[in-house]
Amino acid sequence: MHLTAEEESLLNGEEGETRQQLMEILVGVGTVFGAEEMVPIRSAQVSGASYKTIGEWGLKWLSSLDAHASVPAILNPVGMDRIRWEEMEIDPDFATKQLEVISAYERLGIRLECTCTPYYLNITEYGDHLAWSESSAVSYANSVIGARTNREGGPSALAAAVIGKTPKYGLHLIENRRPGIHIRVEGEPKEADAAWYGALGSLAGKITGNRIPLFSGIRPGRDQLKNLGAAMAATGAVALYHVQGITPEARIFSYSTRGLEEVLIGADEVASLFTGEDVDAIAIGCPHCSPDELMTLADLLNGCVVHKPVYIFAARDVIEREFELVRKIEQSGARVYADTCMVVSPALERYDRIMVNSGKALAYVPTMCGARAVIGSTKECIRMACIP
Ligand code: F3S
Repeated sequence: MHLTAEEESLLNGEEGETRQQLMEILVGVGTVFGAEEMVPIRSAQVSGASYKTIGEWGLKWLSSLDAHASVPAILNPVGMDRIRWEEMEIDPDFATKQLEVISAYERLGIRLECTCTPYYLNITEYGDHLAWSESSAVSYANSVIGARTNREGGPSALAAAVIGKTPKYGLHLIENRRPGIHIRVEGEPKEADAAWYGALGSLAGKITGNRIPLFSGIRPGRDQLKNLGAAMAATGAVALYHVQGITPEARIFSYSTRGLEEVLIGADEVASLFTGEDVDAIAIGCPHCSPDELMTLADLLNGCVVHKPVYIFAARDVIEREFELVRKIEQSGARVYADTCMVVSPALERYDRIMVNSGKALAYVPTMCGARAVIGSTKECIRMACIP
């Protein structure tokens, strides 16, 4: 791997022990994956933020580091709302540890937005090189925006945030962004919402594995694309997908459907995932809600009082900007929390059956919360909460 003189000096420890350690991580990853050089990044998004997932070892490692991010960097969701954690009934011992993790990241210059939707906060444009680590954010950046990022681990994203560069391999190179399978969808319903695309993504991820899918037969908007990609990253290892006529790189690769394996997914298969079972709680916002999704929820909840706990998750910045919508939502008894989500917080471990409107949450709630997950459209989720 070719290193510049400046990169060599970081690696040799001339800029301090922490930068040396972080540079070693980047060079190690680059060497394993055959990178020829490093590439400057526009931003980083750092996972490994919830005490539920990183534990004591992770906290110790973070506390030992002495450096500061050199590019805009945002933290992934943590285990609780930083302000309303008591209302979420988070154990105080857990909260203490979680706040220590957050302080460690703050000291390292990582912005404490704690969200998997950094694209609502940091300007991210077509062709930007990034070092993002949360799988749904990676999928959105690559597929919907046309930026370029591999799926970084927590330590490599943190290293990239401090050094301002990442090894140039994998999805940073255009030749690795070609589709490897064609998924033809038949019978997309007119009212297909983000949950329908989440369910489609659950099925598609299992088929594609780590190949890059090129979809035809669907017309998703941005929120639907967000859910489609999040689900495929959960049931498969999809970090990039294309949708004919919709996503920015699909045009470059549309000729490539010839010679690709073609798989058909019918709307009836997608519909079969929606079982309508009764649940104890409802969780919405995986990935974190957009302003449009908060508006839909405010409309659906207008005049209703919820009879089951309803958890809604969004980035703090989005919640603060849309405080009027959040106030309307919370009048119903539903709660809109920042910084966390149904998967990384221990708050939802107390329920047996949870309805979600997300293919990714459908995949992770059973293992991370020990609850049965049921997928429903956003309308079904709210109907389930409001009808006694
Ligand atoms: Fe985001 Fe949590 Fe889902 S991090 S993508 S809301 S599992």
